[in-house]
Amino acid sequence: MNTNALYKSFLNESTFIADNYQKLIRFNNWINYFGFSTIDIDKRIWCLESLLQIVDNQFSIKGCGILKIDPYTNYNWHTDTNRGLTINMLLKEVHSYSLFGFDKDQYNTSFVELKYQPKKFYLFNTQHIHSVVNFQEPRYVFTVEFSKNKQELNYQDVYDWCLNEGLLDE
Ligand SMILES: [Fe+2]
Repeated sequence: MNTNALYKSFLNESTFIADNYQKLIRFNNWINYFGFSTIDIDKRIWCLESLLQIVDNQFSIKGCGILKIDPYTNYNWHTDTNRGLTINMLLKEVHSYSLFGFDKDQYNTSFVELKYQPKKFYLFNTQHIHSVVNFQEPRYVFTVEFSKNKQELNYQDVYDWCLNEGLLDE
């Protein structure tokens, strides 16, 4: 199945956040945000990632943060309330599944999995139904919020621009 309309990995890997996330989660207060525990990451830190700088120059990033899901939690099927898209990176490999769903019938949802690779950023279509299943350890994901909301900016716009700029994997 072609998953390009759901998610796409970037060529540029993380050069700072992936290696330093443990320091970022240690000194902050977590707040509840759409059912996740989250912390903000200062712009001076996320700007160390050249990819995010490039994308910010074109589309204006409002902020970046880390989302935490508790052990043995399923974040239910949903589309995001505000965000048309995001850029995500899994910060530590844990037993968990990130899934995009397709309504099969009134009882069943079929799905495809986004298998996060270490240090890889993914463009993520938050307006396609998705869900996370997490097992025994807390799960931490780096995530981006753009200044424009889902009415103003969608996944395909950013995908097309990134593709044109040569920022996406094959
Ligand atoms: Fe979501």
